[in-house]
Amino acid sequence: MKYDIHRVRAEFPSLAVTDNGAARVYFDNPGGTQVAKRVMTRMMDYFTTMNTNHGGAFITSRQTDALLEDAHRAMADLVGATDPGEIVFGQNMTTLTLHISRSIGNTLKAGDEIVVTRMDHDANISPWLLMAKDHGVTVKWLDFDPDTYKYDLTSLASNLSSKTKLVAVNYASNAIGTVNDVKTIAKMAHQVGALVYVDAVQLTPHFVTDVKDIDCDFLACSAYKFYGPHQGLLWGRRELLEKLKPYKVRPADNALPHAWETGTQSHEGMAGTLGSIEHMEWIGTEMGDGGASRRQRIVSGFHAVAAYERSICARLIRGLENIQGVTVHGLTDEADFGNRVPTVAITKQGAHPRAMAESLGKENIFVWDGNYYAIEVIERLGLTDKGGMLRIGLGQYNTDAEVDAILNHLDRKSSF
Ligand SMILES: Cc1ncc(COP(=O)(O)O)c(C=O)c1O
Repeated sequence: MKYDIHRVRAEFPSLAVTDNGAARVYFDNPGGTQVAKRVMTRMMDYFTTMNTNHGGAFITSRQTDALLEDAHRAMADLVGATDPGEIVFGQNMTTLTLHISRSIGNTLKAGDEIVVTRMDHDANISPWLLMAKDHGVTVKWLDFDPDTYKYDLTSLASNLSSKTKLVAVNYASNAIGTVNDVKTIAKMAHQVGALVYVDAVQLTPHFVTDVKDIDCDFLACSAYKFYGPHQGLLWGRRELLEKLKPYKVRPADNALPHAWETGTQSHEGMAGTLGSIEHMEWIGTEMGDGGASRRQRIVSGFHAVAAYERSICARLIRGLENIQGVTVHGLTDEADFGNRVPTVAITKQGAHPRAMAESLGKENIFVWDGNYYAIEVIERLGLTDKGGMLRIGLGQYNTDAEVDAILNHLDRKSSF
């Protein structure tokens, strides 16, 4: 079955909004995607029919309990887990990571080591630096090669030893778009007995996520990057979530996942997250191979989306390569297109990224400029004093025509 971009776009009410007749071109997807109809319906339905606290002895509370349970199950299906108790909802990925880093820190001592990377968003670096400072833990850095835009795994090997207790690594970069071989990284870390914390915020909108296959210990993501509401998510192995001591208030449930979800949660956010997963299921059923289980339908949906995004991303990269003065900072070989998300960062000779973003903004083409919190990446590429990079982030609803529009603008305008 063919990916039908018109049907996909019709699922996003915000795509119909215009400004003085001009359509909006959303290339700001890595910063946050537009929201699918099913998400809005789920949230509206939650507020209309069952809005209350959970665990009560009346109908709306029982309905809330059932909905939250389903949201946890759906999220488990999204990441390839089987146990909904391993899914922790929270405000956002950053807050969840800061939260669990405190508990992991309490198991470490001076002289222990952790590994963080120079390709991560700061949400998967600073929580670990702060934790390391609190406990006298030594921090080792995994660098990426600024020519290949990949990690050098021999350098990872040299940073690992029996002292290494944790490796925090990104699955996909929010700046240069590289998808990393986290399966091999997890294997190497486990060989020395270290835990593996994967930031999958930029992977989950584009590819199948499978915690069992990559065999990590924790994986974090955010629903607002995969067409859902502002909501963070953490998957953790049950035995680890049970062993670690969460910071929580006394009356809060000790059972998983509630021990880690202390305080009143965003029930509407969980409802909306369920809707975003149902949206992927819908793509899998209507435009993919479908499947008997929710997990199978989700996987089919991602296969359909990934193939489509690969084609619009290839069109963008090939077009950018033909524009004088433009450098694409990321993987550009056809053979590597399966190892990148459609997030394309560029610089243009003589053009400040902010000036380009402003010029595109006037055309109603939305892109980010600067560092997008990937401060180590920008520093490593020597672009900190140059305004960082312009980031063009494609998603499942972008079109060839939109790609051509940005290419034309970048090509046509000689100065910004
Ligand atoms: C790769 C990556 N990790 C983490 C985050 C932080 O996510 P959140 O906003 O949910 O805290 C982002 C946000 O842009 C990101 O792109």
